[in-house]
Amino acid sequence: MNMLVSHKGLTVALRPFCREDIPELVKHFSSMTIHRDTKGIFGQTLENEIKWFEKNMEDPNSCIWAIQPEGSDQAIGVTALHHINDRMNSCSSGIVIWRQDWWHRGVATATHLARTMFAADYLNRFIIRSSVRTENPGSYLALERVGYTIWGTEPRGVLRGGKWLDTYHLAWLHPGRIGVLYPEGVPEMYTAGVEKAAIALETARREVIFP
Ligand SMILES: CC(C)(COP(=O)(O)OP(=O)(O)OC[C@H]1O[C@@H](n2cnc3c(N)ncnc32)[C@H](O)[C@@H]1OP(=O)(O)O)[C@@H](O)C(=O)NCCC(=O)NCCS
Repeated sequence: MNMLVSHKGLTVALRPFCREDIPELVKHFSSMTIHRDTKGIFGQTLENEIKWFEKNMEDPNSCIWAIQPEGSDQAIGVTALHHINDRMNSCSSGIVIWRQDWWHRGVATATHLARTMFAADYLNRFIIRSSVRTENPGSYLALERVGYTIWGTEPRGVLRGGKWLDTYHLAWLHPGRIGVLYPEGVPEMYTAGVEKAAIALETARREVIFP
C-alpha cells in the first residue's frame, strides 16, 4: 500500500517498489559504503536485481516499499517486512537508504513509524524482528525510537575491513498484545521499548495517511 508519513517537518512516501526503481537501486548496490552494515558483500547487476524483484513480487509473505522523500524525484532507498506468514504473528524488517546525502535527515525514523504501524494495524504482527551491527548507531537509534529493544548480541558474526563485528538482535513487541505475549508481566528489559512502541503507534496513526 502507498503510505505518506509526515514527521517532524519531513514527508516521506512509502510506495510499492516497482520495476522502474531497479536501475537506481543497482547504481548504489555495489557500494561497500552503503553495504558495510548489511548482509550484502558482492556487487549487484541489473540481471540479479530483476531476479530479486520478480522473486519478491511473487512472494506473498514479503512487503517491499520504495522510500521517496519529498524533494527527491526518485527512490532513495528500500524497506521491507518479510516472513509475514509466521504462525506466531511475527515478521522481520529491514532498510537500506542508498543515497548518502539523505542520511541523518530522519528518513529511517519516519519510515519505521509507517512500516511499524502497517505491521501492527494491518498485518496483525505482534513481534517484529531485526538485526543491526553494533557499529551502526544510526540504524539502532532509529529502531529503538519506535520501540525495538536489543535482546542479544551475536559475537563476531561478520568481517568488514579486516575487523570482526558484533550484531545486535532486536524485537519490537506490540503494546496492545503485550498481555497475550506476557500474561505473567512484561520483563523489565522490555518495558521501555513497549512504552516507546505505544507512543510510536499513536504518532504513526496521526502522521501516516493512505493517499
Ligand atoms: C542506517 C540508516 C538506515 C539510518 O537512516 P537515517 O535516515 O540516516 O536515520 P535517521 O536520520 O532517522 O537517524 C536516526 C537517529 O540516528 C542518528 N544517526 C544517524 N546516523 C548516525 C551515525 N552514523 N552515528 C550516530 N548517530 C547517527 C540520527 O542523528 C538520528 O538521531 P537524532 O534524531 O537524535 O539526531 C541509513 O544510514 C542506511 O540505510 N545506511 C546504509 C544501510 C544500512 O546500514 N541499513 C541498516 C542495516 S540494519
